[in-house]
Amino acid sequence: MDPYLLCGVFAVLCSLFFLQRRLSANSRRPLPPGPPAYIPWIRHAFQIPTERQWVKFNEWSRTYGKHHCLTVYIGDIMSVEALGQRYIILGSLKACTDLFDRRSSNFSDRPRLPMLNELSGGNWSFAFREYGSQWRDERRAFHKYMNITQVAQYRPKQLKEARAFLQRLLATPDRFYDLVRHTLGATIMNVVYAIETAEENDEYINKAEEALQTLSLAGNPTAYLVNTFPWLKYIPNWFPGAQFKRQAARWRQIAYEFVTNPLNHVKEEMRRGTARPSMALSLLEELADVPQEERAQRERIVANVAAIAYGGGADTTISALNTFFLAMAMHPGVVKRAREELDSAVGTQRLPTFEDEEHLPYITAICKEVMRWQTVTPLAVVHSSVQDDEYNGYFLPKGSVFFGNAWAIMHDPEVYPEPHSFKPERFLKAGRINPEVRDPTVAAFGFGRRICPGRWFSAQSLFITVASVLAAYDIRAPMDEHGRPIQLEAKMTTGVLSYPEPFQCIIVPRSKQAERLVREGAIEVE
Ligand code: HEM
Ligand SMILES: *[C@@H]1O[C@H](CO)[C@@H](O)[C@H](O)[C@H]1NC(C)=O
Ligand SMILES: *[C@@H]1O[C@H](CO)[C@@H](O)[C@H](O)[C@H]1NC(C)=O
Ligand SMILES: *[C@@H]1O[C@H](CO)[C@@H](O)[C@H](O)[C@H]1NC(C)=O
Repeated sequence: MDPYLLCGVFAVLCSLFFLQRRLSANSRRPLPPGPPAYIPWIRHAFQIPTERQWVKFNEWSRTYGKHHCLTVYIGDIMSVEALGQRYIILGSLKACTDLFDRRSSNFSDRPRLPMLNELSGGNWSFAFREYGSQWRDERRAFHKYMNITQVAQYRPKQLKEARAFLQRLLATPDRFYDLVRHTLGATIMNVVYAIETAEENDEYINKAEEALQTLSLAGNPTAYLVNTFPWLKYIPNWFPGAQFKRQAARWRQIAYEFVTNPLNHVKEEMRRGTARPSMALSLLEELADVPQEERAQRERIVANVAAIAYGGGADTTISALNTFFLAMAMHPGVVKRAREELDSAVGTQRLPTFEDEEHLPYITAICKEVMRWQTVTPLAVVHSSVQDDEYNGYFLPKGSVFFGNAWAIMHDPEVYPEPHSFKPERFLKAGRINPEVRDPTVAAFGFGRRICPGRWFSAQSLFITVASVLAAYDIRAPMDEHGRPIQLEAKMTTGVLSYPEPFQCIIVPRSKQAERLVREGAIEVE
């Protein structure tokens, strides 16, 4: 039979099939497919795993998420439902780009979390703000000071903190987990408020850590029923079962202090004329001509926008840096090759700086592989939709919760062969970064208009810390009682942010010379 005719007949049959479906479904398209569920309303509530959901979602995407007609994109879109809420999981970069980027005005909202936003004072953070003008103003203000050109100004402070980190490691290498946390906190406080934090028990860092802790508790949709059933927020405080409201009142106070204390410090310095350059200072200076009646409102935006650098930047970059230590302790060959590159590009007479970056493609590749190998935010941050829409013939009801499966995109074996192995060289070709290999930033920082606005700042922090540590230290797996290296495993926690579970590693100076460079490496920055 003539192949063209065959195609024609097939096309006609296909159209008839769709026409029939369309008419019979009362012109309502099917919802994206998912695993079978039998109990109404509860639906998949007990099938969604509590650990590493992204792995199961990826499996389901591959099983159920095939498009039902001719254009087959395996793993594109699938959905589950639990307690009346529909969750739609986008399993490929194409689906994420099609919805989050190309149709960003429909898919850039966030689900409402009343415990976090309304009760616990978490609404200082525009990361959870509904899509609209307030979000847009805050994001714009933030972007102005964190955009790709602007972040170059923060390099001296990031370098200073990276050098201080090397010194802290020399004193207490076993505490690297805490030291990473302290260093990131100190960097952000310095860049955002020009606050020099104390080595131990810093009041600002402690308050910030406390505030972030409450935020992640309050944002947990399963821990607080009010996040699922918003009307619960109206029950009075004295009512049995209303502990969550009293809890929220305490958290509101913590959030308030976290957001206002450092800004008050900057205002005080301004009054005294001793304020040093910082993001908060610039934001406040912009308010010079704002009329008095608008001032309080505008100052609150400044406080919120400044605070979010800690809120969005600390825990995420900390996770990536701990993954870096884990990867190095597991892969001595990578440490060795990185060191060879550093020795030839930088030499052994000084420590690396940002100017060396273009001569350090292997270090750059390590940073990319860290972001890919253990995705910090495996399901990015949820988006929700403001309108009914449809995709690939599926109906996407308004108010659905959308996950972009960043982990699946970063572990697609077609794009990254042997996706579970840590191999920086996958990003290199002839000694340079290969632009043909998909860059992890396409998914590691989320999607569309909500994509992480701190990604350039974070890339700088990661690069300078990784390069400095590898130039100065050897990182190895710990030994067992017979003096043999223990086989470390990459075990990650479950949550919006995924961290390596606590592990040990040996961190020692590479040489006497390296130790001397660390001791002398301190930098002063105005
Ligand atoms: C390894 C480092 C980081 C990772 C993996 C990361 C990841 C993400 C992700 C996945 C989102 C949500 C995007 C979406 O909704 O699709 C996000 C949002 C955000 N991030 Fe980051 N981030 C990192 C570092 C930072 C840093 C250093 C800052 C600040 C200096 C920052 C500030 C923010 C803010 C303000 C938002 C909210 C954006 C919005 O809702 O409009 N992040 N980040
Ligand atoms: C946060 O919510 C409180 C109480 O609902 C409100 O008074 C405040 O103005 C909100 N803050 C922002 C920045 O929207
Ligand atoms: C980046 O920041 C600078 C300085 O604040 C600003 O002048 C510039 O307009 C910003 N660029 C973008 C693309 O927003
Ligand atoms: C949003 O959804 C509506 C309804 O399906 C659709 O017509 C519109 O094109 C979508 N908007 C964008 C920006 O894609």
